[in-house]
Formats: sequence, structure tokens, C-alpha cells
Amino acid sequence: MSRIFVLGATGGVGHRLCPMLAAAGHQVSGLVRKPGQAEALRAMGADPVEGDLMDISAAEMAAMLAGHDVAVFSAGAAGSGPERTRMIDGQGPVKLIEAARAAGLSRIYLVSAFPEAGRGKEPREGFELYMRTKKEADAALAASGLDWVILRPGTLVHEDGDGRVSLGAALPYGTVARGNVARVLAALIGTPSICREILELTDGAVPAEEAVAAARRG
Ligand SMILES: NC(=O)c1ccc[n+]([C@@H]2O[C@H](COP(=O)([O-])OP(=O)(O)OC[C@H]3O[C@@H](n4cnc5c(N)ncnc54)[C@H](OP(=O)(O)O)[C@@H]3O)[C@@H](O)[C@H]2O)c1
Repeated sequence: MSRIFVLGATGGVGHRLCPMLAAAGHQVSGLVRKPGQAEALRAMGADPVEGDLMDISAAEMAAMLAGHDVAVFSAGAAGSGPERTRMIDGQGPVKLIEAARAAGLSRIYLVSAFPEAGRGKEPREGFELYMRTKKEADAALAASGLDWVILRPGTLVHEDGDGRVSLGAALPYGTVARGNVARVLAALIGTPSICREILELTDGAVPAEEAVAAARRG
């Protein structure tokens, strides 16, 4: 049993992940920023913790993380502008790394982005910034000295998915159901021997838990 703090707990991936983690016997806390989200989180079996990534400090985040072993970063600005992309997708993980060090939390799972997303489309400034910002966050975590896994899903689709995925160090680009991202995160958290790895993820043919077990075997 781990004590897990989820940033992005109310999002498309996060709201699917929290009940999976609770059902697996973990103690789950999730960040909420709007009144009314707390009750929904409790219904998922997670404890709500109030905070906004636009203005929270690393010290405030460290206080929230106290007593947790694992953090998942699945928050995102979702195309709501460059300042929010920098603060949420960029500074969010950076603050989390600093906060984790201060709080003694050693394991972070970061939902990043598939490097080939957007290829073949007309370049858009906001998307280019998003991809650069995601990569900078990956680099900060990879250099942090903490235990981490960076998961790079293909373009997310608003579906639970059928539980079948492709997971590996390098994959052809594709889409992935948000529920499948949640399943893979839950299985990765249950497999701490997968550590300091960058994994790409799309929908595929292998049950999520088997795909994670195969990734563990290398
Ligand atoms: N869209 C794609 O195709 C794609 C592809 C690859 C990777 N990703 C990444 O995958 C991750 C999960 O995506 P998703 O679709 O589940 O995201 P989502 O549904 O847009 O959810 C975003 C989450 O971030 C939270 N958030 C936003 N602003 C915040 C703030 N200021 N303070 C605290 N929390 C805040 C949201 O909270 P509220 O509920 O309060 O808004 C929500 O919980 C993101 O990091 C995203 O960048 C996306």
C-alpha cells in the first residue's frame, strides 16, 4: 500500500486513475482547485487537497505532500494559453520535484506527451510551446535524482478504452484512451521496479497489466 498524491485528479486521466488506485488498496489524495470538486473526489475514494498550480509555491506543495510516498503529475493547461501552459505543464512538475525533495517523497510518475504528436499538421505556436514545455519538464525530472517514470501517451481520446495497449521505449505514434493511460499508471505504480524509464503508450493489443509486466522484464 502506498500513499499517493495525484495532481490532475479531476482530469480525464486523473478521475479514472484515482478510483483504480483506491481499489488497489492505496491511500489516495488529489489536488482540487474549484469548490464542488472535493465531494466528487471523495466519491472516488480519494482525499481532496485544495490548491491551484498557478499560484502554489513549492513550500506549500511540500506541506501537501507530507506523508505521501508517490506523486502522479497528470495536470495540464489543456490549450488554455501560453502563461497557463508554462505555469501548469512546465512549472508544475518543477515545483513538484522541489516539493518532493523537501517532503521526502521519492517516486514521481509524470504524464508527458508523445514526441511525434502533431507531426504532419500545420505548426501552431501554442502547440509548439506545449511540446517544448513538456520536454523541459521531462528533462527536469530525469535529472532530479529522484525515482521517476515518464509516460508519453499518444493523443488522448475521451474514452475508457478496452484495457489493451502498446507500451514501450519507442513506438509508432497513435492515440490512446484516457482510461488506458490510467490503467497503465496504476500498474506502473504497483511495479516500483520500473524506475527511471521513459515509456511511450498508445492503444494496442496487450492488456495494460501484461504490458507493464513485460516492460519490467525489459
Ligand atoms: N490531450 C492530449 O492529447 C494529450 C496527449 C498526451 C499527453 N497529455 C497530457 O496528459 C495529461 C492528462 O491529460 P487529461 O486529458 O487527463 O487532462 P485534463 O482532462 O485537461 O485535466 C487536466 C487536469 O489538470 C488540472 N488543472 C488544470 N489547471 C490547474 C491548476 N491551475 N491547478 C491545479 N490543477 C489544474 C485540472 O483541474 P480542473 O478539473 O480543476 O480543471 C484537471 O484535473 C496532461 O498532462 C496532458 O498535458 C495530453
